[in-house]
Amino acid sequence: MLSNQFVISFSLLLCLPILFFLLAPHVFLPPPRESPIPIADEIDDQILFRRASAGSSSHLSSGTPHPKLKIAFLFLTNSDLHFAPLWDRFFSPHPPSLFNVYVHADPFSNVTVPSSPSSVFRNAFIPSAKRTSRASPTLISATRRLLAAALLDDPANAYFAVLSQHCVPLRSFPFVYRSLFESPPDDPTTTSRGVRLSYRSFLELISDEPRLWKRYVARGRHAMLPEVPFEKFRVGSHFFVMTRRHALLTVRDRVLWRKFKIPCYECFPEEHYFPTLMNIKDPEGCTGYSLTRVNWTATVKGHPYTYKPEEVSSDLIHRLRLSNHSSSYFFARKFMPACLKPLLAIADSVIFRD
Ligand SMILES: *[C@@H]1O[C@H](CO)[C@@H](O)[C@H](O)[C@H]1NC(C)=O
Ligand SMILES: *[C@@H]1O[C@H](CO)[C@@H](O)[C@H](O)[C@H]1NC(C)=O
Ligand SMILES: *[C@@H]1O[C@H](CO)[C@@H](O)[C@H](O)[C@H]1NC(C)=O
Repeated sequence: MLSNQFVISFSLLLCLPILFFLLAPHVFLPPPRESPIPIADEIDDQILFRRASAGSSSHLSSGTPHPKLKIAFLFLTNSDLHFAPLWDRFFSPHPPSLFNVYVHADPFSNVTVPSSPSSVFRNAFIPSAKRTSRASPTLISATRRLLAAALLDDPANAYFAVLSQHCVPLRSFPFVYRSLFESPPDDPTTTSRGVRLSYRSFLELISDEPRLWKRYVARGRHAMLPEVPFEKFRVGSHFFVMTRRHALLTVRDRVLWRKFKIPCYECFPEEHYFPTLMNIKDPEGCTGYSLTRVNWTATVKGHPYTYKPEEVSSDLIHRLRLSNHSSSYFFARKFMPACLKPLLAIADSVIFRD
């Protein structure tokens, strides 16, 4: 009896150091300092970003009237382009001289190229795409590659809209185009011809998020200093619409990238990098809000609410457009792939009807 107890206590004691060694690497070591981004990819990116920043003008093509300014739609995907047929309908009746489409498809995820020969996505895949993974700085790199590819491709690209495979349009293309390039007559930033004088990026710069400090120190308590003091740190949605001037500034950045590429545990660096960069460089040039609606109630593991096919209705589209800001929402996420059919069914009668 007594010896039995002794054996049990002794084995428990023995277990402790074993447990300690098993847990120790996770509990006591700081996160790895090495970037998860292969050095060869970094070099490729630097070459691309340098080309884009050397060969691009930051100005919106000058001269009024402005028939040639375009919107660059930048799609990020690591699964498929589930809503390609809906987006094709969004683009199809409108002159291609008003937009361009670019896709960053993770080469390791076998993204299917849409089969329709007339799809705008068929020739939109950028060759510089590299592996991406969730909650890692690879999503920052992927977005910068898209910006660089679009800057280089067409000097008329004036606005750059970042979207994912789960995003859907809430408005028609002409509505989006007019809202971005023409301001209402009572807007003081307008010339007599209704052409906007000052263009701003639609990007969130959030400073009152409860987890802001935790996200700031996610790479180590002093890791961001001195370039990024806590007062300058911001978070916001990765799904923004950026001006050409800001896109250029983003591909030119090397200082902040060096900080934000440090791996962090359970954080979403793409939601830190772009808002912090803009907050440091040009906060006045940003609206402070996004044009992409997302439903954060009942969030699971950092994923927002995902709409199911049976929830798709004209009422939902109208509700999702509503905004407390001076512009209504143009896009929304996230939708299950099976929502394609009911969304197509109401495309012409609801979504593209202004
Ligand atoms: C992509 O395709 C390759 C070759 O067919 C396969 O080995 C790989 O598992 C696929 N990857 C994914 C993420 O489906
Ligand atoms: C947001 O998601 C919740 C479920 O978490 C749902 O009840 C609500 O209706 C959604 N809001 C909108 C505007 O769709
Ligand atoms: C607008 O603000 C009200 C009050 O703060 C809030 O309840 C509502 O959810 C907001 N609407 C949107 C679309 O964000």
